[in-house]
Amino acid sequence: MHKKDGMYYPSEEIAEGAHVNSEHIYKEAENDPVKFWEDRAREIDWREEWETSFIHKPPYFEWFLGGKLNITESFLDKNKDSDKTAIIFCPNSPDEEERKISYRELYREVNRFSNALKRMGVRKGESVGIYLPMIPEAIFALLACARIGAMHAVVFSAFSPSALRVRMQDVGARVLITADGFSRAGEFIELKKQADEGIKDTSVEKMIVVKRGSNEIDFTEKDVWYHEIIKEESEECPAEIMDSEDPFFVLYTSGSTGKPKGVLHACGGYAVQAKATGKLIFDLKGSDVFWSTADIGWITGHTYTVYSPLLNGATLLLFEGVPNWPEPDRFAKIIEKHKVTAFYTAPTAVRMLKTQLGDFQRELDSLRILGSVGEPIDEDSWEWFYKIVGKERCPLVDTWWQTETGGILMSSLPGVGPFKPTFAGRPFPGVKFKVYDEDGNEMPPNKEGDLVILPPFAPGMLRGVYKNDEKYREEYFSVFGEEVYYTSDTAYYDEKGLFRIVGRADDVIKVAGHRLSTGELENAISKHEDIVECAVVGIKDEIKGEAPVAFVVSNSGKDSDDLVGEVKKMLMSEIGPIASLKQVYIVPDLPKTRSGKIMRRIMKKIFSGEDLGDLSTLANPESVDGLKEEIQKGQ
Ligand code: WT7
Repeated sequence: MHKKDGMYYPSEEIAEGAHVNSEHIYKEAENDPVKFWEDRAREIDWREEWETSFIHKPPYFEWFLGGKLNITESFLDKNKDSDKTAIIFCPNSPDEEERKISYRELYREVNRFSNALKRMGVRKGESVGIYLPMIPEAIFALLACARIGAMHAVVFSAFSPSALRVRMQDVGARVLITADGFSRAGEFIELKKQADEGIKDTSVEKMIVVKRGSNEIDFTEKDVWYHEIIKEESEECPAEIMDSEDPFFVLYTSGSTGKPKGVLHACGGYAVQAKATGKLIFDLKGSDVFWSTADIGWITGHTYTVYSPLLNGATLLLFEGVPNWPEPDRFAKIIEKHKVTAFYTAPTAVRMLKTQLGDFQRELDSLRILGSVGEPIDEDSWEWFYKIVGKERCPLVDTWWQTETGGILMSSLPGVGPFKPTFAGRPFPGVKFKVYDEDGNEMPPNKEGDLVILPPFAPGMLRGVYKNDEKYREEYFSVFGEEVYYTSDTAYYDEKGLFRIVGRADDVIKVAGHRLSTGELENAISKHEDIVECAVVGIKDEIKGEAPVAFVVSNSGKDSDDLVGEVKKMLMSEIGPIASLKQVYIVPDLPKTRSGKIMRRIMKKIFSGEDLGDLSTLANPESVDGLKEEIQKGQ
């Protein structure tokens, strides 16, 4: 790599070996984006070719109409006789034996699971809940659903029973796949117990339980063991042939309101984008060992921990544990041992490792490419990742995308560059990003505004919000009209056309890269009977990027330490450990406008030290002093 004008460019050696190393592909895609995606679509296996590549009926759009496929055929059937390793599984404990699963074994395992699901009556178009830790069976579960045309609806295994419940209620799954229990770092999690609690008042009537923890569980009539139901099943299961626009999966994510949205993706377009972005952005080849550290509970876990590396015929690494347990060099040891070639993680992990490892010396010479995702990465962490981990050899791709976009839509390509710390980089070929002012006028370079995407968008983007068309229109296609996709991010671009993401324009916060809405947290806190009113804001956190703090108004004379503890517990049980509050402030009153709107902006500014501006428009300006006082006490 070499540096020029504050930007990094790939060395000749990297460029020469890369799938893409010239501007050519950008020009081609700009002239005819639909053709660019058609060419990418030809790189996956179709049973029948599509008739129409793209139609736009705002706010809806469709890709590869009439095309027929099953995503699993592009990697399972294709490699069914191959002994090449598909999955390297590294368990939580470094003392437990690792497991390697070949493409041949993966084909068989998935088919047996597919047959078992069918025997239980699971049909095409139905949704199946998945609540599993990072174990190979989680991948088998995803792929078995895909194979039979059922929609998987994965719920992050660290979500609480209540969080599982609202998602299952919305998606209406009949079957939930879970595990008895598992260890994460030094802690044991009784997952089945949580699942039993979470499916109360839902449509779930059957549970498939993977044996992972060997803990004692309450096993009832509705339960079956995974290893028992697949035992007698055949290793062949013909793939259900899907229409390109058939729904593929649902994944819940946080929006501006308290209720999570079921983001819906389509079979054909998702597969095309997952394959193409992995190939072009991570330069994936059959010889790669690709490690995306994201949990399957998130979109990155779907697209880059599972589908993209498989579609590209690479070996994927699946890690059950956490970056710094039992020692901070756990990630490094895994990279070294398994000769990981491309490593994709989140800024929060980089910040934690930087703090704990400093300028540690390890060769890590198998690495070719580094990637970052989930939130803006600060310059210091970027440089540390690039120098200490990548040894100034590896392109560091900062990849911007969202649950809704299905795959990466912004990142400089490793063989082309340039890479500029804190900038996500260039739009992916064929994708039209703009920055708008509030009236929808295009902003010139270096001016901040709303980040939007113009047609033809990209094939992997969402097709709807599950059972909620209104929400789809309202959240994504109303701010600038039905033809403009609104990202909810603010951004600007420089003279070179590199984009920098500034942050979210809505009440979504990114806690260790995980997306949470402050409204969701407020709903949970409000369930406490002693709380009259509350407001949650995200404040800066050294490691997590952002962390939530809560202001609560209580009508009880309860001891404040007790109340703080109860509020924290409330969030733990309603959402899970990712919602853990950095601080809880008990205050007499929250700042409000005369119409009663809580002014979260003011609370944020007290923390950042920014000027609070004119407070005279508030109905209760004196409330601000109360807040300041409480914050000072807490520091
Ligand atoms: C939001 C989407 C899909 C990846 C995982 C997150 C922020 C994502 C970047 C980046 C700056 C980023 C945006 C976006 N974001 N990647 N490289 N640089 N910000 O998916 O949970 O749906 O969150 O994450 O704010 O809107 P998600």
